[in-house]
Amino acid sequence: MADTITLRRPDDWHVHLRDGAMMAAVLPCTAARFARAIVMPNLVPPVTTIAAARAYRARILAALPAGADFTPLMTCYLTDEAEPAEIARGYAEGDFAAVKLYPAHATTNSAHGVTDFDRVMPVFESMAAIGMPLLIHGESTDPDVDVFDREAVFIERTLDRLRRRIPELRIVLEHITTAEAADYVASGGANLAATITAHHLMINRNAIFQGGIRPHLYCLPIAKREKHRLALRRAATSGDAHFFLGTDSAPHAIPTKETSCGCAGIFTAAGALELYAEVFEEEGALDRFEAFASLNGPAFYRLPVNEARITLRRAAYTVPAQIGEGALALAPFRGGEMLRWRAE
Ligand code: NCD
Ligand code: ZN
Repeated sequence: MADTITLRRPDDWHVHLRDGAMMAAVLPCTAARFARAIVMPNLVPPVTTIAAARAYRARILAALPAGADFTPLMTCYLTDEAEPAEIARGYAEGDFAAVKLYPAHATTNSAHGVTDFDRVMPVFESMAAIGMPLLIHGESTDPDVDVFDREAVFIERTLDRLRRRIPELRIVLEHITTAEAADYVASGGANLAATITAHHLMINRNAIFQGGIRPHLYCLPIAKREKHRLALRRAATSGDAHFFLGTDSAPHAIPTKETSCGCAGIFTAAGALELYAEVFEEEGALDRFEAFASLNGPAFYRLPVNEARITLRRAAYTVPAQIGEGALALAPFRGGEMLRWRAE
């Protein structure tokens, strides 16, 4: 039984760093573990222009702890009014690594999301031509669709049509939660990939209701049945290059979670890599951990792999029970619990 795992430094291909004081509190967690991260643009207001992405990146860099080795990769929030030329220019100049598509009203701060795919078709065509990745929050927003079916319905009604219309468009289906999504992505060819969160590998929907309602386990897409969690574990640990690490760490202050209408989002950054390591160990797949955490993502994004290494040691690591104070305090996933691996 190996007591250390050494791998190329991993990247987080989907994270919410927020802004201001919240960013200052959460950024060190991500920067300590990951060399790069795809930073979600769902600020208020959202990041929709090159100028906004540059300014946000500068704020992230300014908030990094001294000595941190971390590169934020910025994304453009897609709206109905998006300009194909601005997006293409942002990609060419390295200001946007990808475009993020939130169906309007699908999740936190998605009110400005896309309402009509036909309107943004010129953006998709331009992105396909230059190979720029489109990152999709894949949930149907039809209020008649059951919340647990929204991902599968989105694939069937929306994603598959889009891919048939523009097969060259390079798509990451973000934070997949179902067997349907895992199967669809695995058979989707070279222009399709998916990120998988640590929490969706660890909890099923029962956890949200265990002994009472657990607001800190509520996120979107919501955790599904056990059979889906098991399918995600198989996909993540398979070594299949379609799947890579994306935490979707989504911090919300405790008062906005523990309330009558709590925000969606699970804050995993305080133990993210360690959580994934537990899953890979439980699945007997530590030899495939590096592929998922450090190789498959750069390959899809056509970026070099990281040269630096990180070592995880088999040693107790207690996830902080709380990060921050007062109105901004956060409750990390597995907070106060002991994990079996510690990142050095
Ligand atoms: C995210 C957030 O809080 O920004 N919430 C979540 O439940 N995952 C938004 C998102 O990625 O859907
Ligand atoms: Zn997210």
